Amino acid sequence: MRRWEVANILFGIVGRSFPAADPCASTDRMTETRHLVSIDDLSLREMKALFLKAREISEDLTGWAGLCRGAITATLFYEPSTRTRLSFESATQRLGGGVITAADMRNSSASKGESLADTVRVVSSSYADILVLRHPSEGAARLAAQYSGVPVINAGDGSHEHPTQTLCDLYCLWVEHGHLDGLDVVLAGDLRYSRTIHSFAYALARFGANLVCIPQHGFELPEYVVKRLREEFGVEPIRANAKRLGDLAASSDVVYLTPQKPHQLSLFTDAKGKAQDIQHVHAVYMTRPQTERHESGSEETSEYMRLGKKTMSAESLRDAVVMHPLPRRDEISADFDSDPRGIYFKQAASGVPVRMALLAAFLGKIDLFDSEPRPAEELKKGEADEVCCSKETCISNTEIRHADPMFKVASRVPLRVVCAYCSTEIQIGAVGCRTTRRWHLPTSQQLKKVRLENMAFFADPAWAESKGFQLAAESSPISSDAAPPVP
Ligand code: NCD
Repeated sequence: MRRWEVANILFGIVGRSFPAADPCASTDRMTETRHLVSIDDLSLREMKALFLKAREISEDLTGWAGLCRGAITATLFYEPSTRTRLSFESATQRLGGGVITAADMRNSSASKGESLADTVRVVSSSYADILVLRHPSEGAARLAAQYSGVPVINAGDGSHEHPTQTLCDLYCLWVEHGHLDGLDVVLAGDLRYSRTIHSFAYALARFGANLVCIPQHGFELPEYVVKRLREEFGVEPIRANAKRLGDLAASSDVVYLTPQKPHQLSLFTDAKGKAQDIQHVHAVYMTRPQTERHESGSEETSEYMRLGKKTMSAESLRDAVVMHPLPRRDEISADFDSDPRGIYFKQAASGVPVRMALLAAFLGKIDLFDSEPRPAEELKKGEADEVCCSKETCISNTEIRHADPMFKVASRVPLRVVCAYCSTEIQIGAVGCRTTRRWHLPTSQQLKKVRLENMAFFADPAWAESKGFQLAAESSPISSDAAPPVP
């Protein structure tokens, strides 16, 4: 497969004729298809345009039955769902379309061993005009996009992302506050496994929000999310003075993530200097423990944080709306439901107009997308002799028949790469050049001269040497905390 084709596929732009199966087929740029795999697949302008349309739709929900007449949405759900699936199905029907659903993929051919890729090929052939996919493996929607001839919408991939929930969340915040720029938002609960949190944090960071992280102990934001927030969106973690948050802060080490400030601190644990005061919060976003993704026995959630009237009486939370993607358990007490600050049922209700606008856009019935192409990501296909993603639940490990390993460059100097499916950092100790058969440290300046497609990623120098690569002369590592030991 040629590089631009790999880039197109993973960037979410593929031809209708299954480029993953037929690498030479994707030459007709007029038939490009867009997907929503990550919240990054929409620009801020596109999101704002979507919200305007969703608000227009919400004013007369039943008045749009001609917009997508005859279009068919396939909902493929390999995990339980109430709101997401039903709101997509309701949205399609309100637009005049029809739905085919596999609400429990355990009752489908998946139980006979059919791969996701094959299912997607079949359903996107003539069965449906758009696919909505929920799957327990991180990166599943990205893989589906490679094999689909129609748009794929990610309705949740493992603990990775849930972009359409984020659109509902942002829409509600926008309706409440009239804007999305520079808000102060508390993210609370299971920040580690909540895919809604990850997509929401990326989007909020792009809107210049300050994020106040209040994780349940042991469920902090994953390292890869924090790194992305820092490296791609310029958000820095700093120490927080959370006195004004009252009870809410009592059970957790609060961390404040803020758009770049003059003082650059490296990691949460290194945070030094004067703590940032948290004065006024616009929203508290609570999440349930994602027990279905917890490693058995390794995490204790019996003392999970709880939000109610008393917690919300803290000074800084006076005007904050309380959000939750639902379903909730006990993390928001029912006695808070009558408080006008609780907007979690409004979030669920927004799912229909927001997804109506989204479906109409991806079905090409409303013009909402930017016309100029977005910058391409730096991607490289993994080869059999190289490292692969270490996350067991990543689609590149759960569907090895169809998911070729794929790396995305997170930083060129020093070289840092992540799995293009699940965003997990790939630990690299040596980088080979396939043309010179030399290997370099990831910190070597010489790597700037090596083309990405000629690189080979190895866990350590011994691995590189075992594959016939020799240490490059004059390797000059640049200084970096992350530099691996010189052999
Ligand atoms: C969320 C999900 O599935 O990630 N639910 C939803 O789509 N509204 C949140 C959750 O299950 O906790």
